[in-house]
Amino acid sequence: MDNLTIDAIEIRPADEGDLSAFATDPDFGLLPERLDRRAAEKGELLVAREGGVPVGHVYIWDERADEPELRKHLGDTPLIMNLWVQEDRRRRGVGSKLMTKAEDWARERGHLLVALGVLPDNDAAIKLYLGRGYREWEHGEVKTHHDHYIDGDHFETSEICVIFVKKLMPDSS
Ligand SMILES: CC(C)(COP(=O)(O)OP(=O)(O)OC[C@H]1O[C@@H](n2cnc3c(N)ncnc32)[C@H](O)[C@@H]1OP(=O)(O)O)[C@@H](O)C(=O)NCCC(=O)NCCS
Repeated sequence: MDNLTIDAIEIRPADEGDLSAFATDPDFGLLPERLDRRAAEKGELLVAREGGVPVGHVYIWDERADEPELRKHLGDTPLIMNLWVQEDRRRRGVGSKLMTKAEDWARERGHLLVALGVLPDNDAAIKLYLGRGYREWEHGEVKTHHDHYIDGDHFETSEICVIFVKKLMPDSS
């Protein structure tokens, strides 16, 4: 790809065939599970394609959170998670476009708030979220669980996350 040419970025629901492009994502093993949740109408996995090539993804979790603190303070607010962009395609607006579409998806379903968790030292992602109007909630950090699917095994770890929320403007269309 020549540096001066930026192909149009298209965001659309993931196809099963897109997933193999994400093998370098540490959460690669989780993606088929996200497609299963989508099939059960519990969320959506969106993929960014550039010149037809899958370059990033994001999942919108549209069910109640597993973590009690999130359930208590957020109710049925959707959670945006699994935002990831191929390393050699970063800083070109792909992550932002995925976030815009994820927020649109939530708004179209009547949600006026979205939330997400991020590791406190993930400066790149935090800068992206702050730039998009996300604000840290007032209830402190939360111990969240992280599913891993590796070579057919499933296990969970926990991580401490900062929670960010964003109010969505109602859909005026
Ligand atoms: C976070 C991530 C999704 C950003 O994707 P991206 O396509 O590079 O993001 P964008 O190009 O849309 O960046 C939008 C803005 O976010 C901020 N930003 C993104 N990456 C940054 C970085 N490495 N350092 C500083 N700011 C950064 C900047 O303000 C940027 O705007 P600018 O490029 O005009 O300065 C990508 O770095 C990634 O996949 N990281 C690994 C997975 C991850 O951490 N996901 C988030 C989990 S909560």
